[in-house]
Amino acid sequence: MGINLLSLISRAEKEHKLTKGEIVAILENDEVNRELFKAADRVREKYVGNEVHLRGLVEFSNLCSVNCLYCGLRKDNKNLKRYKLNPDIIIEFAQKAVSYGYKTLVLQSGEGNFYSGEEIALIIREIKKFDTAITLSIGEKTEEEYKLFRQAGADRFLLRIETTDRELYKKLHPKMDYENRINCLKIIKKLGYELGTGSLIGLPGQTIESMADDILFFKEIEADMIGVGPFIPNVDTPFASEKGGTFEMSLKVMALTRLILPDINIPATTAMESLNPQGRLIALQSGANVVMPNVTEGEYRALYRLYPGKICINDTPAHCRGCITGKIHSINRVVSKNYGFKKKLST
Ligand code: 5AD
Ligand code: SF4
Ligand code: FES
Repeated sequence: MGINLLSLISRAEKEHKLTKGEIVAILENDEVNRELFKAADRVREKYVGNEVHLRGLVEFSNLCSVNCLYCGLRKDNKNLKRYKLNPDIIIEFAQKAVSYGYKTLVLQSGEGNFYSGEEIALIIREIKKFDTAITLSIGEKTEEEYKLFRQAGADRFLLRIETTDRELYKKLHPKMDYENRINCLKIIKKLGYELGTGSLIGLPGQTIESMADDILFFKEIEADMIGVGPFIPNVDTPFASEKGGTFEMSLKVMALTRLILPDINIPATTAMESLNPQGRLIALQSGANVVMPNVTEGEYRALYRLYPGKICINDTPAHCRGCITGKIHSINRVVSKNYGFKKKLST
């Protein structure tokens, strides 16, 4: 068994192809984890190099109009003080983040129409003046809105599929529609954004087979960025007493994603570090090449409580910037000085 799995990994390292059955076999067995992580690390180095791209994350509103069963920002959670930053404050946080050296900012919020399309477009246009790439992570929108934001200067869009198991998706996302989400991803891609998606690992009812499907889906949708992280149970949700995902399984899905999509951007996610104090460094040595430090100022970062144990809630943007730079240097990697668009393969 061990030998067989090792040969699968070494073939995937060269050819970047695995069948669903092969992915399942690797996910099911922990004997070759070390070799998997090392292979993903080599593929990362070969295709995207030793630079780590930092994306400054601005959590500009924790209002949300939907009810994802796993998430602390869900509409029905009354145990959370809600906030919505004014455009001028968002722009100010962005300007500060750029002054700390970030070349990309991620503007993230819950889902819903708490800002008009025009307001978001204005925020994008103003922030673009600071010479930074912009990623939006604001949920499902209409094609017109995606177009408006792209024209205003947004470069990337993050919208996790969360799981490709349709039945599970339905249970987790009341009143939401899997087909619409897929359609949003296709529109985002068509409009020329860099497309980021990804999934949660260890959701109640999620199977290994469906995680293998997730990885194959990332390839099929031609994602430019994939973020995977463990589901962490939140007491303020219906999933309060569910078992969460594990660090190891999240890392395995991430490493396999690197083998199959060798040249994309893969963040070492915050949720991974919330489960393991060295989580982001381990991820950076198992296929990841991006980190998204929080640049939200003041009390707001504690209020953006997707799950418990979120790191950095009492730290400042300046502190996090220094902290993460030190960590990256400690593993002999360098912080990128460019915008970190997905490398185009010359072949
Ligand atoms: N545990 C881990 N990640 C979560 N997210 C939401 N709730 C949780 C949780 N309980 C993730 C979702 C979403 C991203 C912004 O946060 O995957 O896409
Ligand atoms: Fe809202 Fe996003 Fe949380 Fe779902 S995951 S409840 S859309 S903030
Ligand atoms: Fe925030 Fe280390 S990145 S304290």
